[in-house]
Amino acid sequence: MKTRTTVPHLRRLKQRGDRIVMLTCYDYATALLIDGAGVDVVLVGDSVGTTVLGHETTIPVTMDDMVRHTRAVRRGLTRPLLVADLPFLSYQVGPEDALRNAGRLVQEGGAEAVKLEGGLAVVPAVERIVAAGIPVMGHLGLTPQSVHAFGGYRVQGRDEASLERLLADAAALAEAGVFALVLELVHAETARQVTAAAPVPTIGIGSGPHCDGQVQVVHDILGLFPGQAFRHAARYAEVGELIQGCVTRYAADVRSGRFPAAPHSVGMDEAAAEAQPPGSAK
Ligand code: KIV
Repeated sequence: MKTRTTVPHLRRLKQRGDRIVMLTCYDYATALLIDGAGVDVVLVGDSVGTTVLGHETTIPVTMDDMVRHTRAVRRGLTRPLLVADLPFLSYQVGPEDALRNAGRLVQEGGAEAVKLEGGLAVVPAVERIVAAGIPVMGHLGLTPQSVHAFGGYRVQGRDEASLERLLADAAALAEAGVFALVLELVHAETARQVTAAAPVPTIGIGSGPHCDGQVQVVHDILGLFPGQAFRHAARYAEVGELIQGCVTRYAADVRSGRFPAAPHSVGMDEAAAEAQPPGSAK
């Protein structure tokens, strides 16, 4: 029987030098598939805003969005650690607010940990949530909830000053009690130094090979958006094209009358029902 991933287990993976596998997920069907595929951590990211809800950024995502999607993913998972993102303005207003919202993701959504973006400025929120017994994952580098302040989705940690800032932020977050740190679009050498200095695992996205683990957005690795390719994203399939092809064939079969054939039609002849009808995937 497969064992569940826990926060202490992730620390042991870093100590042993074993890489951590993390992937986003937003719905029940995908969670069932991911559950059987050997992923350590599943993140219900606020990237749900851009991947599922059709927003341009993650900023419009609400607590209710996060709770609903976390609950759906929870129902499909048995083994990976389930982490849910605290969305924009759910933790920046004050530590009490942060705790209340983190509590919703755990209590209503079924998450086992929460993630929030930022460095020194979010330390009081991290401390408050951790003190209540909820594990917190940090997120440094390109933090998409601050996209307007960054002026776009740009690589971070290129110069000495931002390396020093990242090292200080990572140390402050570790001291505040985070159990892991996402490093997004951080220059690879900077990510290496942060990883070497951090007592907790770093999980990179677009931050090179030296992090303790990697995270990807599930829509990116599946190729769900035809024509949209990010440099930092691995693309293992073209599922978007596959889906569009299936729907195109289905539409043609309905219009031509090929679907429904006898096997799809209650009360039609049994022998005909054994023939391979259109829409038989196997
Ligand atoms: O929201 C998200 O998907 C994330 C990952 C990119 C780390 O924060």
